[in-house]
Amino acid sequence: MNISIIGAGYVGLVTGACLANLGNRVILVDVDREKIESVKRGRSQIYEPGLDEILRATPVEATHDLAYAVENTSISFICVGTPTNAPEDPIDLEAIKELIREMGETLNSHHLVVVKSTVPPGTTENVLLPLLGSNGRRAGRDFSICVNPEFLREGSAMKDFLHPDRIIIGEAKGGDGDILAKLYQDFGCPILRCDLRTAEMIKYASNAFLATKISFINEIGNICKMLGIDAYKVAEGMGYDERINSKFLNAGLGFGGSCLPKDLKALIAKSRGIGYEPRILEETLKLNEEQPLRMIALLKRHLPSLKDRRIGILGLAFKPNTDDVRESGAIKVVKALLAEGAMVTAYDPKALDNFRKLFPGIEYTAAEEVLKCEAILILVEWDEFNHLDYRGKVVIDGRRITKAKEAIIYEGVCW
Ligand code: UGA
Repeated sequence: MNISIIGAGYVGLVTGACLANLGNRVILVDVDREKIESVKRGRSQIYEPGLDEILRATPVEATHDLAYAVENTSISFICVGTPTNAPEDPIDLEAIKELIREMGETLNSHHLVVVKSTVPPGTTENVLLPLLGSNGRRAGRDFSICVNPEFLREGSAMKDFLHPDRIIIGEAKGGDGDILAKLYQDFGCPILRCDLRTAEMIKYASNAFLATKISFINEIGNICKMLGIDAYKVAEGMGYDERINSKFLNAGLGFGGSCLPKDLKALIAKSRGIGYEPRILEETLKLNEEQPLRMIALLKRHLPSLKDRRIGILGLAFKPNTDDVRESGAIKVVKALLAEGAMVTAYDPKALDNFRKLFPGIEYTAAEEVLKCEAILILVEWDEFNHLDYRGKVVIDGRRITKAKEAIIYEGVCW
């Protein structure tokens, strides 16, 4: 099939590279010329395992010319970001609205527009579809629109795209999603077809559930810590129950990233907007805001005053195998340490440059140097942290690094 991918961010790049690798002609579109140039050179500007390899093996056409891409393809996947606005209005739809307006101008034969960007339930039907349908263009005759949410995790996005648990196709009317169903027919997973707003809600409900599962186990973990119980043993015992399952039961620092916190906030705002106070979701978020600060409280058990003490941080990304620091737990921990007057020395295998943009004033160095600090906080479960020598050290562990237990003083946040 001939497919354009609008937005060469992490979702667009992974989707485009994988669809091209499966034999489709893919044109990637972005306004950022640097991104375009790097795709042309077979390189992505983000760190995602396997992505550069696939981009080098399967060249993807890349352009900033939206009209060219739309005219030369019959399907467009919309993968632009929906960034966070003010807390009371957490989703900024301006970029996607502008794009849809612009796409409308370029349509001259029937085109399938597929919304992959995460938008609140009702947005495609009430905002995007009318925009596409202005100036006499008619749904069905000139265009169709579908919602096809993504469930990719950073760090394993290629695998998640090629081996999904399910594919959701939201359609304005039956038949609109037939081409998409065909595109995905060999993916070997259930394909659920539903209306547009249901597809949008499935995405939000899935991320809200994952976030809730993490805050739930963190809450259990906080209780366990006070009772001298290991939350990981508890989670293991719970996880054997198939109704619960063991995934996303890792207690610790809490969830970060560009998706779970943002989507949770957007769903809370949407619920409040229609007069429903979503109590579970609100507490999930609140618990998560507070969880990183438990590391500081544990640290202060051993160093009551942090003023002028040198504290080491291992891990700055929001999780392993990514250089992404958006909403990373490290941001809250470093802010709190600096507020206490501590001096911070940090290391991360991939995220140093991104974190430095947020905190240019702290010291960035190698893992071995971090280990020389008066106390060490582990914030990300990078593999290599399991190969360091912690003997004689004071370690507060937010991610359950088994090797760190050899430290002279070792505290797990929930164990
Ligand atoms: C998440 C979802 O998992 C994807 O399905 C979804 O497609 C994506 O958001 C999105 O909406 O685009 P992602 O943000 O890449 O993916 O990362 P996750 O693997 O979900 O991890 C999120 C955070 O939760 C990380 O900070 C991680 O350390 C934390 N986490 C995860 C825990 O604290 N405990 C766990 O048991 C699992």
